[in-house]
Amino acid sequence: MHLERNVSLAPYTTLRIGGPARFYTRVTTYAELIEALGFARAEGLPSFLLGGGSNLLVADEGYPGLVIHLGLAGDTVVDGELHEVAAGTEWDSFVRGACELGYSGVECLAGIPGLAGGTPVQNVGAYGQEVAQTIARVTALDLETLATVSFANSECRFAYRQSLFNSTHRNRYIVTAVRFRLSPEGRPNLTYADLKQHFGDARPAPLEVYEAVRGIRRSKGMLLVEDDPDSRSAGSFFKNPVIPVGQLEGIAKAAGVASVPNWPSGVENAKLPAAWLLDQAGFHKGFALGEVGISSRHTLALINRTGRATCVDILRLRDAIVAEVQGRFGIRLEQEPVYLA
Ligand code: EPU
Repeated sequence: MHLERNVSLAPYTTLRIGGPARFYTRVTTYAELIEALGFARAEGLPSFLLGGGSNLLVADEGYPGLVIHLGLAGDTVVDGELHEVAAGTEWDSFVRGACELGYSGVECLAGIPGLAGGTPVQNVGAYGQEVAQTIARVTALDLETLATVSFANSECRFAYRQSLFNSTHRNRYIVTAVRFRLSPEGRPNLTYADLKQHFGDARPAPLEVYEAVRGIRRSKGMLLVEDDPDSRSAGSFFKNPVIPVGQLEGIAKAAGVASVPNWPSGVENAKLPAAWLLDQAGFHKGFALGEVGISSRHTLALINRTGRATCVDILRLRDAIVAEVQGRFGIRLEQEPVYLA
């Protein structure tokens, strides 16, 4: 294990924000991971597992413990419909590989930054798919016992942007591998409006959907492109709120519109696009507040406009948005990226 001190975390996040980790190590093997955890335990330090840094906001003061940067490499093993991927694999390269082999099930999740091991944690979803639909098993290291444990899909307690790994059992497990059950039929799922519009009645192969989703993400600034300020973000900064259907009318009234865009979510509830709420509250695409702002292509992405922003800058904008949306519509937006301090 190679241990470093006072390592700036900003370069390891897609927002390019954050102070130093007191201790930092990058692990590429299971043995190094165990060694790093042992070090943190012996020193009485908190530890944080860093993956792709694409859903992360790090405080300007940095982190007072050990950051373990996960790079648990490994091949993807395909056994019939089952594809087992190591946690440290770039998510998008796994998706592309599966699509090239003609499998469907994750093609709508193309172009999402980060590592495969991070996807079950927040149940990554986009364009009509979420990983909960195709994950068969998650293998993890139990930090309490240092034993390897395996969870069937139903044991992961998946919900919108949620699993046991980021809720009831937060910080208890480190995902080491994820097994997906993909369909060799190659019949992609085209339920999302953007995709329906793109393909019409065509029956595209998984790889064509993969390319189309990347194109849509690029047009929304949701694909990481070097030197593109719109991609210095952590993706969506707020979750899409779920509210009782009965509240929709009041929101429409407050916004002065005939109807509010929404999708059914469970019984009697509706999910609203947080991006729409931001727009209605005066936070439009391209909005700037000092060094930070809102992506010029998607309202839901807060960005490090200049590359020189601090965490405090982002928090100031976040708080202004939350207060305005709460004041106008009575909805308290929840932050989506993980906060590390
Ligand atoms: N909208 C606006 N303004 C915008 C963008 C969107 O008003 O600038 C409204 C429109 O009504 C639009 C609706 O929001 O129809 C939905 O927009 P979009 O399809 O872009 O999706 P989203 O709800 O904003 C979610 C995920 C994204 C994922 C996309 C695509 C969350 C919090 N976000 O965004 O995930 O890529 O769907 O499926 O659920 C992420 O989690 O970091 C993320 C990027």
